[in-house]
Amino acid sequence: MKTRFLFNIVLVVMVVCMPGCKKKTPAPTEPQAKPEAKEARVMSANEESFGKTPEGREVNLYTLTNTNGLRAKITNYGAILVSLEVPDRDGNLADITLGFDALEGYLAGHPYFGATVGRYANRIGKARFMLDGVEYELAANNGENHLHGGIKGFDKVVWRPEDLWANDNEALLKMSYISEDDEEGYPGNLACTVTYTLTKDDELKISYEAETDKTTVVNLTNHSYFNLAGQGNGDILGHELTLNADRYTPVDEGLIPTGEIRSVKDSPMDFTLPMTIGSRIEQVGDGYDHNYVLNSGGGTLALAARVYEPTSGRVMEIYTTEPGVQLYTGNFLDGSLTGKGGKVYKKHYAFCLETQHFPDSPNKPNFPSVVLLPGQKYTTVTVHKFSTR
Ligand code: BGC
Repeated sequence: MKTRFLFNIVLVVMVVCMPGCKKKTPAPTEPQAKPEAKEARVMSANEESFGKTPEGREVNLYTLTNTNGLRAKITNYGAILVSLEVPDRDGNLADITLGFDALEGYLAGHPYFGATVGRYANRIGKARFMLDGVEYELAANNGENHLHGGIKGFDKVVWRPEDLWANDNEALLKMSYISEDDEEGYPGNLACTVTYTLTKDDELKISYEAETDKTTVVNLTNHSYFNLAGQGNGDILGHELTLNADRYTPVDEGLIPTGEIRSVKDSPMDFTLPMTIGSRIEQVGDGYDHNYVLNSGGGTLALAARVYEPTSGRVMEIYTTEPGVQLYTGNFLDGSLTGKGGKVYKKHYAFCLETQHFPDSPNKPNFPSVVLLPGQKYTTVTVHKFSTR
């Protein structure tokens, strides 16, 4: 795999270099396009250093660019989406995800900005569950509950780069991680991959695969914080949201689902028609932090959410094979973190739409199963599609 990876890097360098070389010696008759416009016509995937972890492990920053200039930067530390630049209705690019300019920001601790979350995204009540008659105790890192994979979840490990390439249609980065038996208390060695693909059709696709050698539970997601007006650029209360979900899973005070699946009808939870996020947020305590039950039921790639930001005209649609999505409106951002470009992240400065299986599913027999058996393959896909209006 290593050889293949190196080979791919070489290919990438070729893909990136060829048009670059051409640009230096333009033919006299060649139309004088702006340099940045010309660069933007190349699908590319490349690698640079992003520093070292405290243990001395080298970490990289990968950049995927498409022909319209969309650009995703990803690090293999936590398989984190570091930035995502997307054009507004006038073609101006802005980075629409919260995060940090340098690795140090991520190492210092943060609320999962852009991270790949696992082995189990979201909460598991009382940090325990039963599987095949055995009780498994997990790390309790959110009061008495387990959140986002525990103390050292998949967001804090170094992923191994496996593939990096670009062709005429897409630019791709694939990374892998082996989570050992008993890591954070979970049973089974779990071999996982996450693949980021930026397509020429302005989609960022994130796909996950996992296999285990012992019956376990798996729920992987991406925890990007979005602000379609540009990261750090005010709150997201004026963003217009539509969710393809008639129901949600109510929670107790510890944000653990009660097990009920309730209709959103006639409540501030209802986003079945476009509504600004802020229109009823004051009626839901600190803000939204709820799992919606997608009408698709999961299993096939279907539209889960659409978000429109009126000042920039940016639209993001989310398609997923997952049965649920967590709407989290950055309720715990409190201005104590300074991110990219010196921007201070305050309450409701971003929203997350974390595609997932429902929180606490290992303890809720009526929720779709999250159990993975040896010999089975876990595969899920989520697509973020960008446009403007
Ligand atoms: C959870 C929030 C939590 C946040 C942590 C979200 O997925 O739903 O409750 O505070 O992650 O950053």
